[in-house]
Amino acid sequence: MKKIVLITGGSSGLGLQLVQDFVSEGHEVISVSRSEEKIKKAIEKLGSTGCKFISGDISKDDTREKVSEFVRDKYGKLDVLINNAGITYLGGIEVLENNE
Ligand SMILES: NC(=O)c1ccc[n+]([C@@H]2O[C@H](COP(=O)([O-])OP(=O)(O)OC[C@H]3O[C@@H](n4cnc5c(N)ncnc54)[C@H](OP(=O)(O)O)[C@@H]3O)[C@@H](O)[C@H]2O)c1
Repeated sequence: MKKIVLITGGSSGLGLQLVQDFVSEGHEVISVSRSEEKIKKAIEKLGSTGCKFISGDISKDDTREKVSEFVRDKYGKLDVLINNAGITYLGGIEVLENNE
């Protein structure tokens, strides 16, 4: 059965792979991430899958409102939420700043 799936950070890495997997299984996928450039590249890579990419920073209230409004208006429900967006700091503790 077709599910409505929201994947944050679907324009690269693990998120992009998840978008590809859910789309190939016939689900309706929506993804949100910041860079229009990365979204364009992801769409080129995926081809015409029908995945809906929304640009915005998911840490911001206005983006979360925009995304939930879109899902509510278009589908009326959400079946799966994958909160994948994030950044990873790689390296030893000695190279990280306090705020990292
Ligand atoms: N790769 C690793 O070794 C590793 C290890 C542990 C945990 N993780 C976690 O696993 C997740 C995926 O990792 P990955 O390596 O696949 O990352 P990635 O390739 O850098 O992809 C991250 C995705 O999240 C988006 N993103 C980042 N911040 C965002 C924000 N504030 N709002 C909306 N979208 C945002 C990025 O696009 P934009 O930059 O355009 O927004 C991109 O689409 C991350 O949460 C990461 O922290 C990764």
